[in-house]
Amino acid sequence: MNLHIDQAKRILVANDRGGYTVPTDRLYPFQWNWDSAFVAMGFALYDTDRAYRELERLVEGQWADGMIPHIVFHQPSDTYFPGPNVWRTRHTIPTSGITQPPVFAIALRKLHEATGDKTRTLPLYEAALKWHRWWYAARDPEGTGLVALLHPWESGSDNSPAWDIALARVPTTTDTPVVRKDTGHVNALMRPRNEDYQRFIHLVDTYAACDWEPARQWAKASFKVAEIQTTAILLKAGEDLEALAHEFGRMEDGSEIAALNEKTRNAILAQWRPDLSRFVSCDLVSGQDIVAPTQAGFIPLLSLDLDKAVVGALVDEMKAWSKGMKVAFPTVKPGIDSWEPKRYWRGPAWAIINWLLIDGLKRNGRVDDAEKLRKSTISAIEAEGFAEYFDPVTGEGCGGLGFSWTAAAYMWLVAS
Ligand code: GLC
Repeated sequence: MNLHIDQAKRILVANDRGGYTVPTDRLYPFQWNWDSAFVAMGFALYDTDRAYRELERLVEGQWADGMIPHIVFHQPSDTYFPGPNVWRTRHTIPTSGITQPPVFAIALRKLHEATGDKTRTLPLYEAALKWHRWWYAARDPEGTGLVALLHPWESGSDNSPAWDIALARVPTTTDTPVVRKDTGHVNALMRPRNEDYQRFIHLVDTYAACDWEPARQWAKASFKVAEIQTTAILLKAGEDLEALAHEFGRMEDGSEIAALNEKTRNAILAQWRPDLSRFVSCDLVSGQDIVAPTQAGFIPLLSLDLDKAVVGALVDEMKAWSKGMKVAFPTVKPGIDSWEPKRYWRGPAWAIINWLLIDGLKRNGRVDDAEKLRKSTISAIEAEGFAEYFDPVTGEGCGGLGFSWTAAAYMWLVAS
């Protein structure tokens, strides 16, 4: 028995709160959306019943309009801000009012492949379909094929330099007092800054005042980004949903999803910038490309079968960023002004991002590069433990410890 696998499983047990897994104790004491999808893929390797439970419990938070929120507050905890009283949403159980990257259907297809259990998969498939329809209706009302985020937290990359220009337009005033709890759990130098939090909460206040209605939020949003990482994940999840639709004989669903996938595929391709060797997001308020160099620009590898020349350019650029790093893949291009190797999404390497990149490299025929990244991610975790993320320069494990998605990623990477 691999001792680290044993440890990874113990982390998932320790973070279990009754059929769902918290990302880590105290810092993140509720159920988070994309964390749970990654965790479910980890469970799918050895306990498919528990994997289904993880997704089923997440779906308890799904709204009537199809949105699956980024946090489901199954039980109270006073170690996290902002809690339910700040979000002021109306679902039967308390949830946040924004969403997160739709990894859900990717996990569901893997789980279904492991079990073939149609009875258990079908209700989750229905939930995923409703959520994907919500993405296109609420977050791409003009039908561009790219979906937009109305809050940086929806990206899962909370304080990425990708938001710096767009977020600077958001006022720092809030109706809700900002009482941070995160900096009581981990070093403040590893976390977003206070000013970021003021703006994050300003947006929450704005959308709560819209009663969380998508059209009203869209009209009021001072932060609106058609985002490349989320859209690329949505497309991969859309492909998986399409495969499940066919498997279940849902031909109409299948063609509906196929058409959306096709539109999104073309829209992502139009975001390729050869001069940057990356794909870019678009700031919908200014109409400008977001050119800040972050990991998001490489994630389309996951869901597109790209031309060889494009893949070559992407991989060369990834190699240039990784050069001299102890742990790849840095979430920001090393050396630029906004690069901070210990501050959350402003430089560190994250196991789940590597997981997406590894799958994308394999899909695009770069098996050796994928293998290198897989092995180095495994070594980083074995050396430092199941940290939230890693300083790419020193390899140091940072942020919260005993992190669920790092444990799940480890098991997945070892098994693949
Ligand atoms: C932070 C991360 C986000 C993650 C959450 C729980 O907000 O930025 O990606 O889902 O923590 O781990």
